[in-house]
Amino acid sequence: MSKIAIMGAMPEEIEPLLKKVENVNKVEYANNRYYEATYQGKELVIAYSKIGKVFSTLTAATLIEKFGCDTLLFSGVAGAINPELKIGDLIIAKQLCQHDLDITVFGHPHGYVPEGAVCIQTDTKLREIAKEVAGNNNLKVIEGTIATGDQFVACSDRKAFISSTFEADALEMEGASVAVVCDALNVPFFILRAISDTANDDAGMDFDEFMVGSAIISANFILDMVKNIE
Ligand code: ADE
Repeated sequence: MSKIAIMGAMPEEIEPLLKKVENVNKVEYANNRYYEATYQGKELVIAYSKIGKVFSTLTAATLIEKFGCDTLLFSGVAGAINPELKIGDLIIAKQLCQHDLDITVFGHPHGYVPEGAVCIQTDTKLREIAKEVAGNNNLKVIEGTIATGDQFVACSDRKAFISSTFEADALEMEGASVAVVCDALNVPFFILRAISDTANDDAGMDFDEFMVGSAIISANFILDMVKNIE
């Protein structure tokens, strides 16, 4: 049976999970808190990383290497690029890229460094489980590309750059770094985001208003998936 890591970036992204799981045991490690728990007979380790690629890399690696998780699910919120995505809608990452990784001056494409890849694919089986859960609950989910960077994007020009360079559907600040860790360590992973804003000039205000509600939508969906993971 799998030992499933569930991570978010912010406390609000994991609090809805902690309210529903059982047998919670808090472990302090590497300046963070990890919550061992069970849900519907499944073994979980839940943590929020803090915002950004560096903290999320540390947390994903810790969940796998120290806690022995063999599957990783990420739950959280994102800014929409694809106009079909409205606040509260869900996006499943098919692939993720780093929009702020830039050594283009040496002739490389945006998002690429030698021995890396512009995009990393998520696990097909976990995406299938997500689509089943969506179907059973009559929920619309979009599957697409998520772009990650160490910037809260609240600017139409930056959003347009990310859209045209990576054909991304949504953007956030942790998914691609978690993808790098899981891909390197051969751990199947899944990244889910509910939309909190549209990364335009109003993004800061929208985020403040909708982040908590969207984080709950994402967390509930993730817990539904846990039931279906072997
Ligand atoms: N997460 C949610 N909204 C975001 C935005 N506009 N930029 C970066 N990360 C986000």
